[in-house]
Amino acid sequence: MTIQPLRVVQWATGTVGQAALRHFIGNPHFQPVGVLVTNPDKVGRDAGELVGLPAIGLAATDDVEAILALDADCVHFAPLLPDVDTVCRLLRSGKNVVSPLGPVYASEPFRADVEKIEAACREGGVSFHGTGIHPGFIGDILPLTLTRLSDRIDRIQVFEIADKLKTPSVYIEYMGFGLSPDELAARPNCMTGAMHAFAQSMAFVVEGLGKRIGDVTERHEIALATHDIAYEGGVICAGTVAGQHWEWTALVDGAPFLVYHLYYRMGEDMTPAWNLGESRHRILVEGAPSFELTLAASPEADGHLPFLGITWTALLGATAIPAVCAAAPGFVTHMDLGIVKPLGLARA
Ligand SMILES: NC(=O)c1ccc[n+]([C@@H]2O[C@H](COP(=O)([O-])OP(=O)(O)OC[C@H]3O[C@@H](n4cnc5c(N)ncnc54)[C@H](OP(=O)(O)O)[C@@H]3O)[C@@H](O)[C@H]2O)c1
Repeated sequence: MTIQPLRVVQWATGTVGQAALRHFIGNPHFQPVGVLVTNPDKVGRDAGELVGLPAIGLAATDDVEAILALDADCVHFAPLLPDVDTVCRLLRSGKNVVSPLGPVYASEPFRADVEKIEAACREGGVSFHGTGIHPGFIGDILPLTLTRLSDRIDRIQVFEIADKLKTPSVYIEYMGFGLSPDELAARPNCMTGAMHAFAQSMAFVVEGLGKRIGDVTERHEIALATHDIAYEGGVICAGTVAGQHWEWTALVDGAPFLVYHLYYRMGEDMTPAWNLGESRHRILVEGAPSFELTLAASPEADGHLPFLGITWTALLGATAIPAVCAAAPGFVTHMDLGIVKPLGLARA
């Protein structure tokens, strides 16, 4: 069978962008045709070398206009911060866009952005899909799919449990780990307002079940390091924030119906001791019958289970690209994509 690869652009080469670019290089159904970087040290470097692979003869650029002028099927848009105007320019230039920054669903306060994106999609004759592990999958399409194993559902709980000690990322700093409790409370960080991003996924599930969310509540608790915790990149000092639990609850018909728990931590040596075990995702469906699904990586050589949230975010975006390119123009969610059939995963 002759493969007609999709011409893709990787926009930003942070942790998600690099994982996606590695997939685009390794999967013959994709042909990387552009890489946009902001870091001046990366400009001009070969795309393959940027992700630890042999050179592929494609230089990274910081020239936005050059990327806009490219003939490409899709842009995997993974910068640090949302930029709806740039997304709309890419769409109007005739390129589909898949992004881990969302929006993933047209709930408030994202409805206005979705409308702008819809209009740009119509102008460019292309589609946009917001995705990722969470929001985008573990609290969205996965629990909604699991509900079909139920006769009746009383409550669904979704847990993301991430031990970042062995794989620290920029999020450790962005989330305020290592601050005193007072500093954390006083300083906005990347989790400030995160409830709204996750509430999109809640709306996806609840509306998928034919109901509406009345309200979403938030609870936040922290755990403090019992001694200095050294990690690659620094030290979490004794008495500072070493664990965070964010809990968001969607109320339906006045009762808690969908609860998301995000447990992020740096090891186990903290008080209170949450005794959470290894990194994993878990979906607990309570009703008739009650059941649960656990999703975890296989152990590495040292026996620890890595947290694969970043890898899975990149792959959920990359694998959706063929379906997004084939979709009717517009803002497409999992509902519109139906069963996504990834290309090129079964390969030597
Ligand atoms: N939905 C989900 O489940 C999910 C999961 C993980 C991440 N995300 C989102 O995906 C996005 C990318 O995540 P990531 O882990 O790849 O982030 P990251 O490692 O911090 O990388 C972000 C990249 O954005 C570029 N950048 C642009 N402006 C920047 C600035 N002012 N400061 C620093 N970098 C800047 C840089 O690209 P260059 O190095 O190429 O210049 C940087 O490497 C984030 O918005 C994150 O919230 C979503």
